[in-house]
Formats: sequence, C-alpha cells, structure tokens
Amino acid sequence: MSTLVIGEGTLGELGSRMRELGLAGRAFVISDERVYPLYGEAVRQSLQQAGFDSAAYQLPCGEASKSLSTTWVLYDWLVEQRAERRDIVIALGGGVVGDIAGFVAATFLRGMPFIQVPTTILAQIDSAIGGKVGVDHPRGKNLIGAFYPACLILGDTAVLRTLPRREIAAGWAEAIKCAMILDAELLDLLEANADKLCDLTSPLLSPIIERCARHKVEVVAQDERETGLRMILNYGHTIGHALEAALDYQVLLHGEAVSIGMAGAAAISVAVGLLEPAAAERQNQILESFGLPIRLPSIDRPLSVETVLERMSRDKKTRGARNQWILLDRIGHARIESNVPVELVERILRSLLAPSPAADH
Ligand SMILES: NC(=O)c1ccc[n+]([C@@H]2O[C@H](COP(=O)([O-])OP(=O)(O)OC[C@H]3O[C@@H](n4cnc5c(N)ncnc54)[C@H](O)[C@@H]3O)[C@@H](O)[C@H]2O)c1
Ligand SMILES: [Zn+2]
Repeated sequence: MSTLVIGEGTLGELGSRMRELGLAGRAFVISDERVYPLYGEAVRQSLQQAGFDSAAYQLPCGEASKSLSTTWVLYDWLVEQRAERRDIVIALGGGVVGDIAGFVAATFLRGMPFIQVPTTILAQIDSAIGGKVGVDHPRGKNLIGAFYPACLILGDTAVLRTLPRREIAAGWAEAIKCAMILDAELLDLLEANADKLCDLTSPLLSPIIERCARHKVEVVAQDERETGLRMILNYGHTIGHALEAALDYQVLLHGEAVSIGMAGAAAISVAVGLLEPAAAERQNQILESFGLPIRLPSIDRPLSVETVLERMSRDKKTRGARNQWILLDRIGHARIESNVPVELVERILRSLLAPSPAADH
C-alpha cells in the first residue's frame, strides 16, 4: 500500500515521513536539470535532518531521457555508489523522472524501496500514482516497463508555482478528466474556480489536487493491472494519444492532446445517444476556461484524419481491430464501449482537425 501525502509545503517532511515508514539506508535522488536546482537542496536537507545520507543525479529535461540508454547511465551511477538493496530511490520531478526512476528502482538489485516526489500537476494527480513505471522504445512510448508502486508519494503543491503556464494548463486537463469520469461535484469546483486554479492562487489548490490523486488511488486499488475499471482513466486518451503520436510528440503537450480527445469522446458520447449535448458543451467550456484546446490549433504541418486513425489502430490498448472507447453517460460517470462505428469516429475527428468551426462540414 502506498502512502499518499499532498499539501502545501510538504517537501520538508520527506525525511521524517521516510523514517515513519521504517526506511533506512542511503537515499538516491533522481531528478532533472530544471527541477533539481529549484528543489534539490530542500530535499537533501530534509533527508539529512532525518539522518539519511544522500546522493543525487540530474537527467537532461524531457521525454528523451525516458530511454533504456538512460537507465544504463543510472545503473552505472548506482553501481559506482555501491547502492544496496535496502537503499532508497527517490524520484524528484515530473512524469518523465518518475517513470524512469521507478523503472530503475524496480529492476536494480531486483527492486529497491521507491519514493515519488512529483513536481508537476500531471505527476501529482496521475503519473506518480498507480505503480506504472517504464521507459520508451524508439518505436513506441512506454513499451518497456513494470508495475512497481512507490511506498510513499509526497506531493508539495507549492512547487507547482515554478511550472510554465502551459504545463499547468496541461496538468489541469487530467483533473477535468477525473471530474468528468468520476466526480460531478469536483467539476463544479473546477468550473467555479478556474481562474485562481490556473494561476495557482486558489486555496482549493491542494484539496483539489489531493481529491484527484485519491480518486486515482481508489481506481487503481480496484484494478491494479488495468483489466477493467482502470481503463476509464483513459477517457480522452484514445484520440489524445493518437494526436500526440501523429505529431511526433512535437506539437501538443499530453494534457492538450487529452483535452482535444475529451472533446472528441464527449461528442461521440452525444452522437451515440448516451450523453446530453449540454454536458458535452459544459465540459468544453471548462476546458477552454483553463486555456486548453478543444480542437487542433492551427499548426504548420498537415495532419490527416487517416493518419490519426492509423495511429489509433496501433494503440496498445486496442483489442483486435476495435478501439475501446471510454464514453460518458452523464457528468461524473464513464463506461467502456467497443462498438463505436468507425464512420462516426471519422466524422468527429474531421471536426476536431478542421481549422475553424466554419470549415466543419
Ligand atoms: N506512469 C504513469 O502512470 C503515467 C501517467 C501519465 C503520464 N506518464 C508519463 O509522464 C510523462 C509526462 O510527465 P510530465 O507532464 O510531468 O512532464 P515532465 O516530467 O517532462 O515535466 C515537464 C517539464 O516541467 C519541468 N518541471 C517539472 N516540475 C517542475 C517544477 N515544479 N517547476 C518547474 N519546472 C518543472 C520538467 O523539468 C520538464 O521540463 C510522460 O513521459 C508520460 O508518459 C506516466
Ligand atoms: Zn493522461
């Protein structure tokens, strides 16, 4: 069972929380070149105060670090440092650092205690929770990995204030997703507090991050290996992943792609008669109030519906020829549907890729 701690200013509690969990040994902090200079010192200080020796490694920022060649670099470092099985790996950073550090913790010496200190909204409410760790293969994202839950997930919401605005908005996309599939009341809160959540000044920041994180904990607890319920977390991701991949991960942030994907999934839900049009409209307005796209923004490269469809058919969550769609039957409630006609998907994609509403038909 993972311990989840979310709050403003929790970074300083890291060392004492680790002691409470009975951890001993040395702490190996894996971070990146942007996050470590900001928060590395505070983390090392907290560790030192609790009596932990520590060492740190900074990876270059970005998805390119999530590779097997980088795991080699980290294994070499751990070997040089003479890391032992009871020593602790700490991921300090966003989803990239969390995924690769977790994979290293899962595999080095057949598994070392692992702690996540997520520093992006996406990592605090999504990627640090649930135990999926791994790296990319040149031919596909997240193809190599394991299930290896962290024993402690410690999210400090104060660190989010140094995130670029675009990353903040992209993170909120996952919170809106969480509300749409699981929690209608959360959607009310997001809707009513959008401005202050966007600039991270709302007193609801920590409670909302924690609420989303707890939802993920609960869903994962019921379906650790993603055979059923956990799939609802992929709402907006069937189209979102395909868009990201079709644009070589160069144009859209994950959350932005998911936002467009949610607009698509809601439109499909309406078209098959599951969802009230007003609910889809409301979702889209909330996404826009967080500065998120609900259709592909104008980009200087062509992207065809066929390319996106082809990417969708390659999605690893595909069973046989059909995509599993996460649709909504009302706000706060999702269902899994595999019988969505491809013509309908095509029509919706065409409208999402159209440059403006005027070109929609
Ligand atoms: N394991 C899972 O279940 C899961 C789920 C969703 C996504 N992911 C993975 O997560 C990754 C994306 O994670 P992400 O969106 O956090 O991106 P990221 O880790 O690349 O972080 C985004 C950028 O923000 C910087 N950053 C992080 N925290 C900061 C802070 N507090 N202040 C200033 N800058 C900061 C990073 O250096 C980086 O440049 C992808 O690789 C994706 O596959 C994993
Ligand atoms: Zn996501």
